[in-house]
Amino acid sequence: MRTENAVAPKTIYLKDYTPAPYLAKQVNLSFNLLPGKTIVTSSVDYVKNPAGVSSDLVLDGEDQTVISVALNGQPFEDYTIADGQMTIVNPGHAFSLTIVSEIHPEANTALEGLYQSQGNYCTQCEAEGFRRITYYQDRPDVLSVFTVRIEADALAYPVMLSNGNLQEEGMLADGRHFRVWHDPFPKPCYLFALVAGDLERVADTFTTMTGRKVDLHIYVRAGDEGQCSHAMASLKKSMQWDEEVYGREYQLDLFNIVAVSDFNMGAMENTSLNVFNTALVLAHQETATDSDFMSVEGVIGHEYFHNWTGNRVTCRDWFQLSLKEGFTVFRDQEFSADMNSRAVLRIDDVNTLRRLQFSEDGSPLAHAVQPDQFIEISNFYTKTIYDKGAELIRMQHTLLGAETFRKATDLYFDRFDGQAVTCDDFVQCMADASGRDLSQFFRWYKQAGTPSLQVSSHYDASHQRYTLTFKQSQPDTPEQTNKQPLHIPVAVGLLDAFGQELLPTRVLEVTEREQTFTFADMADRPVPSILRGFSAPVKLETDLSDDDLRLLQVYDTDGFNKWEAGQTLALRTIQRVMDQPEADITQFVADIGTLIAQGLSGQGDKALLARALSLPLLGVIAQHQAVIDPAAIDAARTAILIQIKRTHKEALAALYDLNRNSGEFSMTPEAMGRRALQHAVLEILTVTNGTGCAARSKAHYDAADNMTDRVTALACLADSDQPQRAEVFADFYARFKNYPLVVDKWFSLQAIANREQIFEDLAMLRNHADFNIKNPNRVRSLYSAFAINNPVKFHDPSGKGYAFLRDVIIELNTINPQIAARMVTPLREWKRYTPALQAQMQAALEAILATPNLSGDVFEIVSKSLKG
Ligand code: TRP
Ligand code: ZN
Repeated sequence: MRTENAVAPKTIYLKDYTPAPYLAKQVNLSFNLLPGKTIVTSSVDYVKNPAGVSSDLVLDGEDQTVISVALNGQPFEDYTIADGQMTIVNPGHAFSLTIVSEIHPEANTALEGLYQSQGNYCTQCEAEGFRRITYYQDRPDVLSVFTVRIEADALAYPVMLSNGNLQEEGMLADGRHFRVWHDPFPKPCYLFALVAGDLERVADTFTTMTGRKVDLHIYVRAGDEGQCSHAMASLKKSMQWDEEVYGREYQLDLFNIVAVSDFNMGAMENTSLNVFNTALVLAHQETATDSDFMSVEGVIGHEYFHNWTGNRVTCRDWFQLSLKEGFTVFRDQEFSADMNSRAVLRIDDVNTLRRLQFSEDGSPLAHAVQPDQFIEISNFYTKTIYDKGAELIRMQHTLLGAETFRKATDLYFDRFDGQAVTCDDFVQCMADASGRDLSQFFRWYKQAGTPSLQVSSHYDASHQRYTLTFKQSQPDTPEQTNKQPLHIPVAVGLLDAFGQELLPTRVLEVTEREQTFTFADMADRPVPSILRGFSAPVKLETDLSDDDLRLLQVYDTDGFNKWEAGQTLALRTIQRVMDQPEADITQFVADIGTLIAQGLSGQGDKALLARALSLPLLGVIAQHQAVIDPAAIDAARTAILIQIKRTHKEALAALYDLNRNSGEFSMTPEAMGRRALQHAVLEILTVTNGTGCAARSKAHYDAADNMTDRVTALACLADSDQPQRAEVFADFYARFKNYPLVVDKWFSLQAIANREQIFEDLAMLRNHADFNIKNPNRVRSLYSAFAINNPVKFHDPSGKGYAFLRDVIIELNTINPQIAARMVTPLREWKRYTPALQAQMQAALEAILATPNLSGDVFEIVSKSLKG
């Protein structure tokens, strides 16, 4: 249990929101970066907030020693510090407060506030890291103009950056230098950033729509400059896309990106000084896969788009997190869709949503997109806030149409630029611009859980009438029962029996618990294509026959639903094999043969074919199971793959050959599609893990001239016991041991092996000289890869998988609580597993809960998991 002197974690409620008692007119920060300590001086001009309800100034502060406080320039001691807050009773209407404190970035392993990564200084203030730098009202609705002075050794820290424009710089005594940065746009403190270090700069420029030239700088460690061109190109595309699609221009003359290797998340949108995980900046064909390239483009876009959705218009409080994150994810998804293949992107995004967000919604950690309570805000950077939040924006886009949606976003930026607002404010703009009542729609923000949508169809031949009847239901989630029906946009098209489209996509708006839509003048029974483009984040159940689905799989004009039809057939087939191992699946296997033949004819999009040839992942199949038994799911899935391989071996081999690398490496969508297709085919061809399989994978590796193909080969060898496995893994390590991001892949590809000696391998990897518990990327490369992407061994009946994860969570609890709490994710759904697995998962959670000095972060996730 928690130790006695630990502060009990406090629940924060949305309903308790009150405006800040004081406004910060301007903030002057001064950092003296010294060996062994950093001295921070903050001088803030405060004025009483007319909307405030209290007259006490309450400042948040953690992990620092206050050296002195001065009020209006006079030494001041009439303050109290307790429970992480400094209180000054009634300081007056307007005053200036100067606080000098000492902090220790070199000892900061939590990677919140000011810390060091490989000897360089950097910051991470979202959500509540600023309070580790100085005492301040650490809340997003306090906006202020920041001026920042940085002073450090000139040789060790030639680069010194903060937000905004450089105002002043110069040399000081003892080889030290200083720089002063000024950001004219008022911002909340979570967007403050500072970087100081020895970094190289890659430079370019962008000319905005009004003809202003913006300097673009990417800072990386020496030696990494050659891996920045994709990030730079992505940044320029993002800037242009935001001008074209949203009419949004960048406001400052400089935009900086700094890549650091120790980072809790992907990247951070600090005004004009984005700080990125190296994994989302560096990309070169030799060291990054196609999917890494896609992630870099998407995240560069995401952080850039925050400039308007998050920074210029920010959140009133952290319950509104999805105001910026959901909207910005929607924007980055649409950006990526415009830059690449829309259907492929949608398929991949929906797969992630189902695997990770639907499972969150079905767990004790289920929460609304606008939650009404939390303990630790950093635990709420979830798939629900981000990805379901993006679906909510997408639905509003669908309901309004692109043109009206754009009017609504124009109105939003116009109305709220420079303000801190709520999700309600956003939806109100949608309503005002469209003249529509979106009050029922707003329930999507308040009700947790994934709705079910059941559809039944009826054809009335005598009246030539076709009807679709929708029934929606909302699951109970922790603290939420008896939910109201939602406003669900369902994009529907109708095909005839020959696959011709009878009715192009139209959006049906389901608002009742049960609702029927009628289609007149139907000479024959049509085949409906329902929820095109996945127009709403629901679990759809239809009464479509296998033959209907087979028709859609071939003829649907909607790329997403075409794929979806095949996946539904696959899910049905997997279920049949799980129920009855001898079930006849020849039809399904023959249909796969048709897809392979299509591929051999050279027709069709290769990236889409790759996805059509891939069976649903275990995590997606699990969403359809009442009781999850990973080994049983895997056995059925593998049995089907083996039958596909045996039936179509020659054709698959021919398809593999047809899609060989034909010369120069290229990053076009066609080339990426070709590599993805080869990967999907090789995965089937090597499913039996015999000698031939290993030889094929090894040959793929030997022929590779890029990281995508190497990773494909390693993934196909991972489960193997053939000698080629060790050879290829050893070669890979020897080649890339100086590239940390590639060494991460080397860890992950071994951690996902579904083979007997996995637990010895895991122990070896944990004790490997390159393992580093303090580096989040490395921790994730071993532990998250194992717990999330190796479901069969993670859920090994011995419980060894759970114990492996439990131990690292306990170890990380004191080192990096945010990462420790995230690691609990794979355990939280414990009640959905077989009784034997449940008991072991529960025991692992209880062991974590019994850890002395448990952080609030871990406590919240573990205690909620056990309670749910
Ligand atoms: N706002 C960041 C984003 O773009 C999220 C983020 C980065 C974050 N670093 C963090 C959140 C640390 C919590 C803690 O999505
Ligand atoms: Zn974001």
